[in-house]
Amino acid sequence: MKEIHKPVMVDEVLRFMALKPGQVVIDATAGLGGHTKAIWERVAPDGIVIAVEKDLESLRFARERVEGDGVVFIHESYTNLGKITEFLGIKGKVDAILFDLGISSYLLEHSGRGFSFKQDEYLDMRFNPEEGLPADHYINRMTAPQLEHIFRNYGEIRFARSIAESIVKHRKRQRIKTTGMLNEIVLNSVPGIYRRNQKLKKKLLAQVYQALRIQVNKELESIATGLVEGLKVLKEEGRMVVISYHSLEDRLVKQLKKMRGVEALLKKPLTPGNDELSYNPRSRSARLRAYKKMGELNEEDIDHFTRLEWDNIGHNRPRFAYAVGKG
Ligand SMILES: C[S@@+](CC[C@H](N)C(=O)[O-])C[C@H]1O[C@@H](n2cnc3c(N)ncnc32)[C@H](O)[C@@H]1O
Repeated sequence: MKEIHKPVMVDEVLRFMALKPGQVVIDATAGLGGHTKAIWERVAPDGIVIAVEKDLESLRFARERVEGDGVVFIHESYTNLGKITEFLGIKGKVDAILFDLGISSYLLEHSGRGFSFKQDEYLDMRFNPEEGLPADHYINRMTAPQLEHIFRNYGEIRFARSIAESIVKHRKRQRIKTTGMLNEIVLNSVPGIYRRNQKLKKKLLAQVYQALRIQVNKELESIATGLVEGLKVLKEEGRMVVISYHSLEDRLVKQLKKMRGVEALLKKPLTPGNDELSYNPRSRSARLRAYKKMGELNEEDIDHFTRLEWDNIGHNRPRFAYAVGKG
């Protein structure tokens, strides 16, 4: 299972969570339990780790991997941390929380849910396939301006309009149901260099898939709600560590420092060291930020944060100053 997903920045996570035996800790994105295991080893034998995960298959792997009397596995969304901790009687008593955002290698490569452009699969992309609507629905139902909006804002894609228009044109003939079909449409609606140059091709497709995944799972809204729920259930002086994997996530996480009652423990995010990059190249986009709860949170700040109204969130700035001709 180790090969399926290697946990990212484990030493840094443990250091900033400042864990001690006997503490109550939440792993809000348990995935395959990599961080859960490391956290449990620090708080065992009398501590408690609440491992929350939206994807049931991942949670089953985590349960097999992590052995510990004090680890509780919960198939839920981190947006419900308030309810979860209330039910367990630990609301306001949590010492530390980890959010490892993004997606696991397992979901990308082995779930069969169309998260990756590398396999030909049905376009589902839901973390919990029992909730919400699959990517297939959005791709075949959204208007061209709506699709353009998500590609531009959630994928930061230059060719957002062209891709959106091609999708709408294509689906009049045939419903777009698979990653293979989507890849072909996307690559045929951008300049030829994106088909010929492997690096550009991969980057573009990864951005398209990122945008759709954010839309399908309402990821930015969920992250904002989850982070606030996390702060609320922490005790005073409790720690929150967040690892993000793309600029939209990081821009959002960064805004936590503006909240009253929250102290940022790092001025700049930490990134993986060379050692980690060599054995886990997937960690290359990781950015770790850490916060401490200093006191009461302010309702106005929370409202502002969860409505994603802080500057820059979802704002697209073109990355290239030059134009690429079609060819
Ligand atoms: C990067 S992976 C976590 C990997 C994990 N730390 C490990 O070491 O195996 C992110 C996980 O967050 C989960 N996730 C996404 N949205 C969620 C939500 N709203 N609530 C709980 N889990 C969520 C995904 O299903 C995925 O398994």
